[in-house]
Amino acid sequence: MKDFNINKITWDELDELRRPAPETTDFDRVVEAAMSRRGFLRSIVAFGSGAAVMGLGTMMSSTSAQAQSAAMSRFAFAAIPVATDFDVHVPAGYSWKPLAKWGQPLFSDAAAFSPETGIDFASSERVFGENTDGMELFNIGGAQVIAVNHEYVNLEVNLPQNADGMPTSAEDVRKVQNLQGVTVMEVTEGADGWEIVVDSPFNRRITNNTPMTITGPAAGHDLLKTDADPTGTATLGTLNNCGAGKTPWGTYLTCEENFNGYFGSTDAALTLPEGFDRYGIDLEGGYAYETFDPRFDIAANPNEPHRFGYIVEIDPADAASTPVKRTALGRFKHENAASVLARDGRVVVYLGDDERGEFLYKYVSTNPYVVGGDTSTLLDDGQLSVAKFAEDGTGAWIALTPEATGMDAAMIHIHTRQAASAVGATTMDRPEWVAVNPVAIEAYVALTNNSRRAVDATNAGGDAMMAVENSPNPRNKNNYGQIVRWYPANDDHADAVFTWDLFVMAGNPAVHSDAYAGSANVTDGNLFNSPDGMMFDSQGLLWIQTDGDDSNEGDFAGMGNNQMLVGDPVTGEIARFLTGPNGGEVTGLTFSSDKRTIFVGLQHPGGSFPDGTGLPRSTVIAVKRDDNAVIA
Ligand code: FEO
Ligand code: CA
Ligand code: CA
Repeated sequence: MKDFNINKITWDELDELRRPAPETTDFDRVVEAAMSRRGFLRSIVAFGSGAAVMGLGTMMSSTSAQAQSAAMSRFAFAAIPVATDFDVHVPAGYSWKPLAKWGQPLFSDAAAFSPETGIDFASSERVFGENTDGMELFNIGGAQVIAVNHEYVNLEVNLPQNADGMPTSAEDVRKVQNLQGVTVMEVTEGADGWEIVVDSPFNRRITNNTPMTITGPAAGHDLLKTDADPTGTATLGTLNNCGAGKTPWGTYLTCEENFNGYFGSTDAALTLPEGFDRYGIDLEGGYAYETFDPRFDIAANPNEPHRFGYIVEIDPADAASTPVKRTALGRFKHENAASVLARDGRVVVYLGDDERGEFLYKYVSTNPYVVGGDTSTLLDDGQLSVAKFAEDGTGAWIALTPEATGMDAAMIHIHTRQAASAVGATTMDRPEWVAVNPVAIEAYVALTNNSRRAVDATNAGGDAMMAVENSPNPRNKNNYGQIVRWYPANDDHADAVFTWDLFVMAGNPAVHSDAYAGSANVTDGNLFNSPDGMMFDSQGLLWIQTDGDDSNEGDFAGMGNNQMLVGDPVTGEIARFLTGPNGGEVTGLTFSSDKRTIFVGLQHPGGSFPDGTGLPRSTVIAVKRDDNAVIA
C-alpha cells in the first residue's frame, strides 16, 4: 500500500490519494480569473432578484426577502453553537436518541454486538452495516420502513485480529462485503422512542454479493459480459453506496460512488483497459478483495468494474425482489438521485458525479409516470443530459446523444464521463447531493469543495478546471464549497435551459476578507465548510449536512465539528441545528411519515460515540421536539 492508513481516512480522502490528478498549474491565469467577493455579490443581485421564490404561500424576491430575514425567521429553533466534542448537540427543546448502530441485529438469529470483537462472520449479513449514509423512509401500508446505505467499512474495527485490519482470507473479505451495501428495516415508535422491528418481514440486507439485474442502454454490451455472466445482464452486489433517492412510485434509489477502490490486479504488469484511468480504477485496491475474490481482480475479470457505478433501484416493500441497476442514469461516481416530475408527468432525476472537475447530470424519462401504471421501464427509456453553465447566469442541459458525443448509446452509458467531456460540460467542484424544492420550481446542488481547482489545470479527462468569475465554481483552491441553485425555464424541470445563482458560498469571514470570506449569508453564527448531504422538508426548508475539515483551526477556525444546518430558500438565512461527534461526518436524513421525527446519519464518528465503550459506531439517530410537534 501507499504511505497512508486506510483506517484513518474517509473513503473520499482515500480516493483522492489513490488517484491524484496531474500537477500542471497555470497560476497567473488563475489569479486573473479568480472571483472577487464584489463579483459574487453582483451575481446574487442580478440573478437572485429575478427568480421567483415562494414561501408560506407568498411570492417575494430574494433581495426583498433578505431585507426582512432578521425580523422574520421561519426556523422554529434557536441556532446552536459549534462543538468540538464527541457527542451530538441539538437545539433547546429538542432531543435525540440512537435508532440503529453498526452491528445492531436486524434478525433475532444474529449475535449481539461486542465492543471487543465487533461482529462475528455468521451474523455479518444479519445486522445493521457500517458507515451509514443516504436513506429514505417509506410508508408501506402504515409500516415505517427505512432503506439506508452503508457506504464503506473501516477494516481495523471489523477485522480487529488482523494487522491494519487487512483481510487475510476469503472469509474476511466476505465479512466486510456483508457489512456494506444497504439495509432495509422496519422501525416503530414506542414509549421509549424509535426502535428497529427485529425480524420484520421488511427487514433485508443487500450486500456486495446480492444478485441484481442490469437494464437500460448498457445492459448486455460486450463490456458488461463476464465468464460468470455471458449475458451482461445479471450481476452480483452493489458497491460504495453513498447518497440515495426515492421514486414517485415508492422505490429506493441507491447510488454507487467510489466503486473503483474495490478493484485491484494480481498481475502488477497488467496494462489497464481503456477508460479505467478516467474512473480511477487502478492496479492496487484498497481492501485486498482482488487477492481473495477473483471477481474483483481486474487481471482475471477486466469487465467486472463496468458493472458498477450505476443507480440501483430497490423495492423496499418486497424483501424478495431483485434490485435493478439502471444504466440509463449513467455510469460515474454517483452521489444521490433526486427525483421530481416534469409538468407533463415525465420523471426527472438529477444526479451528481462526486469527483473534482466532474459533472452534474439530469435524466428525463421518455414516458410520463401514471399513478398505478407500469413503472418498470421509466428509468430505462429516457435521455441523459449534462449541465453547462454560462457566466451570464444561464445554463443548458446538453443531451448525451450519439450525434453529440460520437459514441453509441451503450458506450454513452458505460463511459458517461467521456461522453460529457465530448460535449463540453462544465467542470464542477465535486457535485454531492442534489435537492429539489417541493414548494418552488428550483433545485440545489452541494459542491463540497475542490482543493485542486486551478492547482490542476484539468480534470482526469483533460477538461479545463480553472476558476471562472461568475461561474458556479468561482474560487481556485476551493476548500470551503458552495451550494448552487437553478431555476428551470418555463417552470418545468424537463426544460433544456435554466437560470442559476449561488444560494451560499461557504467561507470564513473571521479569517478572510476576500472571496474566501463566503457569501453575505455566512456569518459568525453559522460557519461551516464542505456542504454534502441535502434534503428539503415538506415546508420547503433546506437541510444541509457537512463532510469537511473539523480541525477547528486555521481556515476552519470557528467551524467546529461536522454539522447539520437549515437554510431558507426565500431569505437566504442559514442556522445551525445539530453538531455531530468529532471525527465524523453528518450524512443521510429522512423524516417519519408524521414529520415529527427527523432521522440523521452519523458516519465514522470519533471518540466512543455513542456507547462510551471505546469503540465508536456509525449510528442513525432520531431527533424529536420535546413537545412532539411537527419539525419537518
Ligand atoms: Fe460518499 Fe461524495 O460522498
Ligand atoms: Ca457524500
Ligand atoms: Ca463528501
